[in-house]
Amino acid sequence: MSTKSPFTYRFEPGDRTGAPPLLLLHGTGGDETDLLQLGATISPGSPLLSPRGRVLENGMPRFFRRLAEGVFDEDDVRRRALELGEFVQDARERYGIDAPIAVGYSNGANIAAALLLMDPHALSGAVLLRAMVPLADPPAARLDGKPVLILSGRQDPIVAAENAGALAAMLSKAGASVDHRILPAGHQLSQPDVALARTWLAEAKQHAPAT
Ligand code: MLT
Repeated sequence: MSTKSPFTYRFEPGDRTGAPPLLLLHGTGGDETDLLQLGATISPGSPLLSPRGRVLENGMPRFFRRLAEGVFDEDDVRRRALELGEFVQDARERYGIDAPIAVGYSNGANIAAALLLMDPHALSGAVLLRAMVPLADPPAARLDGKPVLILSGRQDPIVAAENAGALAAMLSKAGASVDHRILPAGHQLSQPDVALARTWLAEAKQHAPAT
């Protein structure tokens, strides 16, 4: 844990050459420890960078403010996404890691989607678990083939199917290479989420645009 960053966070150095760094972004009420196990499972040996959301909602950490469930304070989304992008850049310099692939769940997936749209160079890709559209009117981002996996739950009571579909369309339109799967699940993660994310991450280099 570091005190120099505005974020409380954990960093676990990787131990597998070539394993992509992951930026782990928890859901509402989570913290920087929540997704460490998931990260190690879906991409063994990857460096793991895991900040805690800096907004508190009734004591629960989040990555941006919302006005009601599914209704976001979009000015705050924009500001917090840029702040997260700065945190990622600082961590890259401190730890000597490449641009990470975000792995976000729920509120963490939503800030990851916002970061892709607000600061396209901050991430090399993203796994968005139960994500929804974070900004109604995002800036014109150029995602240039960046690989994005969206895993939605068909019975998710928080994220409507059309909303997840609209996010996939928004990112595709910006040029991302989007793989959107709809699983027989609710808002909670399921075993197929883990298996699909692991397979996709193992192949992520093949999805990435040639540099
Ligand atoms: C959000 O606020 O980001 C979404 O409603 C997901 C959640 O955190 O419940």
